[in-house]
Amino acid sequence: TELSRIRNFSIVAHIDHGKSTLADRLIQLTGGLSEREMKEQVLDSMDIERERGITIKAQTVRLDYTAADGEAYVLNLIDTPGHVDFGYEVSRSMRAVEGSLLVVDASQGVEAQTLANVYQAIDANHEIVPVLNKIDLPAAEPDRVKEQIEDVIGIDASQSVLISAKSGLGVADVLEAIVKRLPAPKGDRDAPLKAALVDSWYDPYLGVVVLVRIHDGVLRKGDRVRMMQTGATYQVDKVGVCRPTRKVDVEELGPGEIGFLTASIKQVRDTRVGDTITHEKRLCAKALPGYKPAQPVVFCGLFPVDSADFEDLRTAIEKLALNDASFSYEVETSAALGFGFRCGFLGLLHLEIIRERLEREYDIDLITTAPSVVYHLHMTDGTMTELHNPADMPDVMKIDRIEEPWIKATILVPDEFLGDVLKLCQERRGVQDTLTYAGSRAMVVYRLPLNEVVFDFYDRLKSATKGYASFDYQMDGYQADALVKMQILVNAEPVDALSMIVHRDRADLRGRAMCEKLKDLIPQHMFQVPIQAAIGGRIIARETIRALRKDVTAKCYGGDVSRKRKLLDKQKAGKKKMRQFGKVDIPQEAFISALKMD
Ligand code: GTP
Repeated sequence: TELSRIRNFSIVAHIDHGKSTLADRLIQLTGGLSEREMKEQVLDSMDIERERGITIKAQTVRLDYTAADGEAYVLNLIDTPGHVDFGYEVSRSMRAVEGSLLVVDASQGVEAQTLANVYQAIDANHEIVPVLNKIDLPAAEPDRVKEQIEDVIGIDASQSVLISAKSGLGVADVLEAIVKRLPAPKGDRDAPLKAALVDSWYDPYLGVVVLVRIHDGVLRKGDRVRMMQTGATYQVDKVGVCRPTRKVDVEELGPGEIGFLTASIKQVRDTRVGDTITHEKRLCAKALPGYKPAQPVVFCGLFPVDSADFEDLRTAIEKLALNDASFSYEVETSAALGFGFRCGFLGLLHLEIIRERLEREYDIDLITTAPSVVYHLHMTDGTMTELHNPADMPDVMKIDRIEEPWIKATILVPDEFLGDVLKLCQERRGVQDTLTYAGSRAMVVYRLPLNEVVFDFYDRLKSATKGYASFDYQMDGYQADALVKMQILVNAEPVDALSMIVHRDRADLRGRAMCEKLKDLIPQHMFQVPIQAAIGGRIIARETIRALRKDVTAKCYGGDVSRKRKLLDKQKAGKKKMRQFGKVDIPQEAFISALKMD
């Protein structure tokens, strides 16, 4: 395809502003999809994605469009994930295209994620077309939202396209705007091949599929290619493009085009996103600027409730990791929990998704230990080690100082809830950066320790603002503070899976809250069970679970054997979800619930 007839773009939007609905309309209008297929949203394909209404893996579609000027165009849409945890996937897809549609719900206005994503688009030098969606709603205020886009984002919104993705109104204008206002890609067909590795995933039929954006040269089936960063070479088996419902083989991909290749690559880990693909025999002079790999920022232990499931868990984790290079894992052994895995995630949502998939798709009951951020331990001998697991904390005498990761959070909230938001941030050791207004909404930027955000900050923010606040963050360096390891002892035995690193000033409060929570979460036993929080050898909080007096089967009058058995069976089933610590049974949900503060 001629460069002037190609348009590559992405859609940036806050969750629920209508990105998927618009994408489906664009596919439908260009003839890629029937009414029936429209019913099932095409771009979000994974079950969990659909349930949670979020897009995780970037996907791509190629559309054919005949514009009002009578010319035939090829439009490549790269879908980008909206959630902060996947910011890295957003940035790499943005670099593969020249423009973005900025979709804003005309009844809601600009939200925190809109901002985070549109800044990535601006960073990638995109031409941006603002699209105001949901103008069918009575609450839509397109003029006010246009003004807001100009004030907050600082781009011209006078030419915004007004649409209802739901009814289809105005969607044809979006297609025209893509062709008229977004720039065509640039590239040289005769230069050596230079293609960006945008994404890769495992396909059960095709094996590893690599999504590429061609900058210069031509990629053909049968070519021998080299990945410039890893140095690996491959013979290309297939070259193709992604149509809305299927992959189609093509003879070649030229400059400006987006498509896929397969090359008998064993696993997704062998491909490095951001790598430059070139021909083995005719190397391009300079690789594309590399991307930083995504670093896991939150770690936790995953243990099977039933230790007999360990090998199944290993198989399941290996399978998931095949398709998700940003998920890391290694075997972990815990005195209390036995064998399991220490896993690293891009953020809390990423953690939740993986945990849910393991439980749902692989049917494994899991104990999730306290999520922890990565601490930098600066030792007295001048070395630095990363601490991924509070249980591994070395002797404090050998530590000079502990640094923790901080984030810069952007929160948008209606005026009336601002006080509650400031209070919450303050409680979480936050430091206010800026506070500005856009209409009746406040935009507040806070620096916060990530540690204070990983458990339940988002839930708390939502409930404090009745769901009206939106939140986004980026990592913002490491900073030393008075951090200590807090242990929890159940019946005088430390439970390492409940250990955590806390700020010294917050330790008492956290310790008390944990003990109180655990008191309610751990069932009564035949003996008294003390629950304590300790720093070093010092106990900072204590609760006691009273002993159970009566035999539970007593109320069966001793006579009815079948009822008695039923009750015992029921107890057994209940036990399956518990783990024994010394003589005490701790239910699975205690590990996560205990960490939520209220
Ligand atoms: P994520 O995939 O979660 O990022 O959300 P999204 O931005 O893709 O939003 P989606 O397309 O799933 O739309 C969110 C909700 O808004 C759905 O219930 C849609 O039916 C609804 N919606 C989308 N467009 C319109 C519109 O033009 N008008 C109205 N009234 N509702 C719309």
